[in-house]
Amino acid sequence: MKRSSIIGLVALLCVAPILTACSSSPAATPTVPPPTRTPFPTFAYIKPTTEGVFETDAADSDAAPTASIELDEKLVGRGRGRYEALECGSCHGENGEGTSQGKSLLQFDLPEEDFITFVRSGGELGTSHQYSTDRLSNSGSRNLYQYLVSLAQSS
Ligand code: HEC
Repeated sequence: MKRSSIIGLVALLCVAPILTACSSSPAATPTVPPPTRTPFPTFAYIKPTTEGVFETDAADSDAAPTASIELDEKLVGRGRGRYEALECGSCHGENGEGTSQGKSLLQFDLPEEDFITFVRSGGELGTSHQYSTDRLSNSGSRNLYQYLVSLAQSS
């Protein structure tokens, strides 16, 4: 064997692993990782929950919500003043007994909040039955409520 060919063989042996390393690495990169399995429940029985029912004493009793309201004579008097000043009586009667224009208020049984919402908005009667704060203040509407309750309680 010639000396040059020995050098060539040694060189080849040294370079060969480098070449194989280079040639094998591009083939290895596009390995796609295996898809990860997400455990997915396909069926689960969920017991339907029944809606809770809250029963309050007020809902339980047949009595009108206004029946148990304690009245303050002073506020009732002021409420009567509002009733007269706003001329509620022109439609509902001087003492809430009702006229052809408006029904009797003697069976009045709205909770206070509903009453105030009603007079502020006019309810279904709209602007014809709307009393804004410049005509009926918040305390005025509470006094008026007391007066209407007093009418209902004494009837
Ligand atoms: C222009 C006439 C008129 C005037 C003034 C009037 N109302 Fe009425 N009111 C009615 C009419 C109409 C209804 C609808 C129910 C009905 O009477 O048939 C009504 C309904 C109501 C109701 C609801 C009754 C219920 O049980 O649902 C209340 C409470 C009431 N009015 C209070 C008042 C008060 C308080 C005033 C004064 C601030 C007043 N109203 C002024 C005509 C009038």
